[in-house]
Amino acid sequence: MTALAFTRTEADRLPTAEREAILADPGFGNHFTDHMVSISWSVDAGWHDAEVLPYGPLQVDPASSVLHYGQEIFEGLKAYRRPDGSIVTFRADANARRLNTSADRLALPELPEELFVAAVNELLHVDADWVPSGEDQSLYLRPFMIADESFLGVRAAQKARFLIIASPAGAYFTGGVKPVSIWLSKDLARAGRGGTGAAKCGGNYASSLLPTRIAAANGCAQVLFTDSATEDTIDELGGMNLFIVRADGTLITPRTNGNILDGITRSSLIRLAEARGHRVEERDVTVREWREGVADGSITEAFACGTAAVITPIQALIGEEGTLLDFGAGAPGELTMSLREELTGIQFGTVADPFGWVT
Ligand code: COI
Repeated sequence: MTALAFTRTEADRLPTAEREAILADPGFGNHFTDHMVSISWSVDAGWHDAEVLPYGPLQVDPASSVLHYGQEIFEGLKAYRRPDGSIVTFRADANARRLNTSADRLALPELPEELFVAAVNELLHVDADWVPSGEDQSLYLRPFMIADESFLGVRAAQKARFLIIASPAGAYFTGGVKPVSIWLSKDLARAGRGGTGAAKCGGNYASSLLPTRIAAANGCAQVLFTDSATEDTIDELGGMNLFIVRADGTLITPRTNGNILDGITRSSLIRLAEARGHRVEERDVTVREWREGVADGSITEAFACGTAAVITPIQALIGEEGTLLDFGAGAPGELTMSLREELTGIQFGTVADPFGWVT
């Protein structure tokens, strides 16, 4: 398609002092920048009306499919402030591709990859002052697409809107980078075979909220979901992928079997670990294998990973029966932390990027 020109509103929403106060301690997902991107789509007109607007409430028809049938997909990526003041993004092209995989599954329109990347850059251009420069801080970008036709029949989208909002971010988990305990959800599943587990759609996250509430009531920061068909085969956490590390340096992570998200942090870590000479096994792995490995000392570390969580070490797995495994003083593990350092080093520009991931 021909490139779409963006119309821009550049005026800021918040005074400089307020922005600076937010950037001093942003937390995660609490505050939003001055602007947002919106691009409209219809079957007849294709993608049109690309705009950079002041951040604010949307006008959505109450009959929109997104409000009734959850026809929504999203992405998450970050922009980083380099020591020289420049701003970079990490693998935005991979987010653009994954958005289209999700769009296909939810019967939403595909967005040309170059339009996705141009939209990200437009927003970063007007909201550059919102990219924080503190340690481990970034600007979290949340592209999303909704079906907004006013029609109550259940069908593939005839009208849609793609938007990007942005939120300055510190650590995802309160307490920063410290090992977390996770809750094994036995009866409540996130995804089933042939379902939407591999798509980044709101419904997958909505279905994780009750188990997450149960996890929190049991002192855990996240939920571990297993395959509803096999019970014991590990899928992923509520909003992140999982890696297990063996004492011999092998990394094990559940294969992308259609139930789990094909995480961009996940695939980056596989490349990083392999480049260091580690063996990485993408395969079915069970809770039982994990428990037995920790008990006999052959499994020494585990971590969660995702754009928001980066790499978060896992301390323990708790279930209805009590503590299923606990790394004790072994958490956070050495490999977990050194992979974290290398990945964030590439993102923040303190480590060379041999993969061409940073733009
Ligand atoms: C991300 O890591 O970008 C996600 O979408 C996870 C979400 C739980 C914040």
